[in-house]
Amino acid sequence: MREGKINMLLLGSGGRESAIAWKLSKSPRTGKLYIAPGNGGTDAYGENLNLKPTDFDAVDKAVADLGIDMVIAGNEDPLVAGLRDELEKRAAERGSKLLIVGPGKDGAALEGSKDFAKRFMSRHNIPTARHLTATKANIDEARAFLAALKTPYVLKADGLAAGKGVIIVNSLDEAYATLEEMLAGQFGAASASVVIEEFLSGIECSVFVLTDGHGGYRVLPVAKDYKRVGEGDTGLNTGGMGSVSPVPFADEIFMDKVRDRIIVPTIEGLIAEGIDYRGFIFLGLINVDGEPMVIEYNVRMGDPETEVVMPRIAGDLVPALEAVAEGNLGDIALGEDRRAAVAVMAVSGGYPGNYPKGKVIKGLDKTDGIVFHAGTKKEGDTTVTSGGRVLATVALADNIEKAAENAYREMSAISFDGIYYRRDISKDLTRQ
Ligand code: AMP
Ligand code: GLY
Repeated sequence: MREGKINMLLLGSGGRESAIAWKLSKSPRTGKLYIAPGNGGTDAYGENLNLKPTDFDAVDKAVADLGIDMVIAGNEDPLVAGLRDELEKRAAERGSKLLIVGPGKDGAALEGSKDFAKRFMSRHNIPTARHLTATKANIDEARAFLAALKTPYVLKADGLAAGKGVIIVNSLDEAYATLEEMLAGQFGAASASVVIEEFLSGIECSVFVLTDGHGGYRVLPVAKDYKRVGEGDTGLNTGGMGSVSPVPFADEIFMDKVRDRIIVPTIEGLIAEGIDYRGFIFLGLINVDGEPMVIEYNVRMGDPETEVVMPRIAGDLVPALEAVAEGNLGDIALGEDRRAAVAVMAVSGGYPGNYPKGKVIKGLDKTDGIVFHAGTKKEGDTTVTSGGRVLATVALADNIEKAAENAYREMSAISFDGIYYRRDISKDLTRQ
């Protein structure tokens, strides 16, 4: 561990980064905290820096000029593009050592290439849906694989597609047509390869692991997100309309299976393949009749899950991140708040389709609960909307029902033109 305080640069601008910055700002170890580019709320926890996380020259310059000790990657894009490798190289050229939370390009392929992720899972016997990777070269084999599956059919662009690369269709003809379109470039180079998967039926949850690349790991509070725009999980997919933690079905028996069949084989698999993975691993899991299966890996925290996970981490996150970046988690404990947390996301009217921006947000001074900004920006003294997902209210309470009640009460104090939020976040888990 370093002596004294640590200057940190957190990359990203969403609700997830608001929640991480909030948590970091509470630590006595935190020195200067910069969020790049941040949003209209993150300046309450640190200083916003106007730079793009994928602009490595700008990130490196900030690191050097501002005396940054630790960089934390909030979103996947810079990691998949090689942020860690590049920053490490440049810091070494200056003769300094930089702590980085987030894997190098090799580990980030777990999210950057769904084909790589599926092959990795096969190599290490990690439970996941049966699959075949299609390209223009094996189209006949791909069609035969589809024909042998039952409806519905799951097709995924291999590469990053801004969260839109997964298409699920009901008929075989639609599946053939979707495959053709994807291979023809529907998602650009990201869908030059398409992973076809067997459909798995069950409830999903998100498990987050912090690992140091040397076998040390901690499991963070388990969460569930709500992806569809409409109540009762209807309508279009979104970046996430709310979240809850804990997840009652992710009990000790289920989590023991997750640890033995998924977490440990993943961490040991990375080490066996020579991948020095230091950062967050997000396991998107599905509970199929009590058996956990992996839907996807992400190489960062989830959004909006982080908005409920951070408030439930009882201990200081900074020493844990520092130890992860140094490759030695040792016996650092994180602790878990026993209370439940619920996050309700307010979005702009029209989202996930077209929506207006620049709407004045009112009532922010009327709530003393936790509000994590996402698509907001400051215009002088006012805060206005600047994205689809605008902000989340988050509450902690003794149980999920009370947490939801409080998060909704907080939300009722906030308004902007066209505000919309789901009224049923967490209700599927508590309905009798
Ligand atoms: P995304 O977050 O865009 O990757 O969304 C992927 C979503 O598609 C997952 O959260 C699941 O809801 C769904 N999904 C992906 N793969 C499967 C599968 N094999 N079986 C069932 N649902 C799936
Ligand atoms: N909430 C899902 C994700 O962050 O990908």
